[in-house]
Amino acid sequence: MIKYPQKLSLAITPTPLQCLSRLSAHIGGPKIWIKRDDLTGCAVTGNKVRKLEFILSNIIANGGDTLITAGGTQSNHCRAVAVLGAHLGLKVHLLLRRDGIVRPVGNLFLDHLTGAEIDHYSPAAFKQLDTLFDTWSSHYIEQGRKPHAIPIGGSNSFGVWGYISAISELIKDFSDAGIMPSAIIHATGSGGTQAGLIAGKQLYELDCAIHSYAVCDSASYFDSKVLSDLHNWKKDFQVSIDLNQLIISTNDNYIGAGYGKASKEIYDTIKLLASLEGVVLDPVYSGKAFYGMLEEIKAGRYKNHSDIVFIHTGGIFGLLAEHNQIIF
Ligand SMILES: Cc1ncc(COP(=O)(O)O)c(C=O)c1O
Repeated sequence: MIKYPQKLSLAITPTPLQCLSRLSAHIGGPKIWIKRDDLTGCAVTGNKVRKLEFILSNIIANGGDTLITAGGTQSNHCRAVAVLGAHLGLKVHLLLRRDGIVRPVGNLFLDHLTGAEIDHYSPAAFKQLDTLFDTWSSHYIEQGRKPHAIPIGGSNSFGVWGYISAISELIKDFSDAGIMPSAIIHATGSGGTQAGLIAGKQLYELDCAIHSYAVCDSASYFDSKVLSDLHNWKKDFQVSIDLNQLIISTNDNYIGAGYGKASKEIYDTIKLLASLEGVVLDPVYSGKAFYGMLEEIKAGRYKNHSDIVFIHTGGIFGLLAEHNQIIF
């Protein structure tokens, strides 16, 4: 029996599992299914809300009234915190890394719309994030508030539960669809989704590989990040799990020019899926991972697989911010 911590009900779940039959026929590969975690909400679309259900529940239970979090200019996580903070009546302060020219579009537009306080930092200043968190926390404590810092991507011990519970949802999806997929594929950035999926696979004894496609950082970085996050999670919640049994499988071949930088191939993949299936990916996460998966299918990696599942982790507002990259 898996003992979950308390959570708030913030995500629209279960999200649909859909078969991409036209795309599967088009590429002549295995049958590709898509778990529509881009449909966890409208303004809170994506994977972050699953983590935040647990994170925010704990913060509110501890009397927190102010959320401080951080990410890139177009961070989906920060936007989700801004929207959910407004929904729950909590103050939100976003510390954003200045990634190029700052324009109030896409996620940043929504951050402003929800009334979040926003500070932009140069990449050099942003490297001192722990100090920034401490400085702002002290500032709010002096004002008599109860601030809580949420790490980048919401990847902490509470956040891990989000994708453990998604595994139990997927098990039901597979049974309803009458399939037993051989691989679950997704984009990994801060490693929290990956950690949850890997732990969930182990806890629920799901016989299905987890293939994580990196959008930044090397496979060895994710090996140690996921393991250290799961060590903390195991200790914090006294979970009986053998972490030596975990299989962490990260593909870092499709990062391209770097985090947030998408090539023409990524935008072509986004156009292909939108036109064949009406499913919209984003250039920073889901589009990159989906492109990587299609390339690996072409290279024969999934040739003995009959069904594989891609988790669509959201990000549409990031695509809208980059709309001029696609010329019609
Ligand atoms: C749309 C989207 N997909 C995937 C990810 C990666 O998730 P994680 O940070 O849990 O690795 C993110 C994280 O920011 C995201 O915004």
